[in-house]
Amino acid sequence: NKNYQSLVVHQAERGVQLVQLNRPEALNALTTGLLEELSDVMDVAEASDDIRVLVLTGGSKAFAAGADINEMAERDLVGMLNDPRQQYWQRITRFSKPVIAAINGYCLGGGCELAMHADILIAGRDAQFGQPEINLGIMPGAGGTQRLLRAVGKSLTMQMVLTGQPINAQQAKDAGLISEITQPELTVTRALALAKVIASKGSLAVRLAKESILKGMDTDLATGLRFERHAFTVLAGTEDRKEGILAFKEKRQPNFSGR
Ligand code: CAA
Repeated sequence: NKNYQSLVVHQAERGVQLVQLNRPEALNALTTGLLEELSDVMDVAEASDDIRVLVLTGGSKAFAAGADINEMAERDLVGMLNDPRQQYWQRITRFSKPVIAAINGYCLGGGCELAMHADILIAGRDAQFGQPEINLGIMPGAGGTQRLLRAVGKSLTMQMVLTGQPINAQQAKDAGLISEITQPELTVTRALALAKVIASKGSLAVRLAKESILKGMDTDLATGLRFERHAFTVLAGTEDRKEGILAFKEKRQPNFSGR
């Protein structure tokens, strides 16, 4: 693995890479350098057959407390227009393999926006989710108004974005922002267990299923259903489909090849 400054990356389970945000001195505030490193991790993971699923985590006190405010303070309007961070956010958005966020502690601002780029979000009981940008005289700028809206609906999004006040893990679960709550010390373990299950499936089916679900988040039902049907049809040509059906008939576990 490469040496990163703001991340710790290692192969955790077969097919699963654990990526830990590692700027504890700043509660994992997202510098441009950190986002660049995360983009690089995704470039490598995208091209590697050995990496099927990413688990993204932070520390026990914070998943990430937002964009790095010190760095942001130095950017004026032209600086914002030329902001290289945009390309890194796009890279993260485009990543085709599943990402599971394992969240503990503060998950705020850009940190919450990063978490919402993940496909599955699970969190420790002590997690706090918020978009506090309004307290700085600004607003969310990396999808906070859009992804939160799609995840939890209008009223709670308005409440969080306009007051800047965070919600706890239970509220996040009730609202559908996260899918499970764990004991804080077991969040990563649980995420790795889910990742291991996903990594054992046919990778083409996983990729197309992810794409189909994401498509459904920003299109009308008829278009989404058509996309789903095409993806489903394409999978009829894979080795993995033959293997999956054969294994079922032979009453054994399938051994998927990703072909
Ligand atoms: N950027 C830079 N540094 C940060 C940071 C951030 N977002 N959040 C925390 N830190 C730093 C603190 O400055 C502090 O550093 P020093 O020890 O050098 O002073 C260190 O991390 C520890 O933080 P605190 O001492 O503040 O810890 P706390 O437990 O007292 O408070 C907190 C925790 C409530 C999360 C508080 O740190 C906080 O409010 N952080 C800012 C949260 C925020 O506003 N995030 C939104 C950023 S804007 C954004 O994200 C824009 C976007 O959408 C793209």
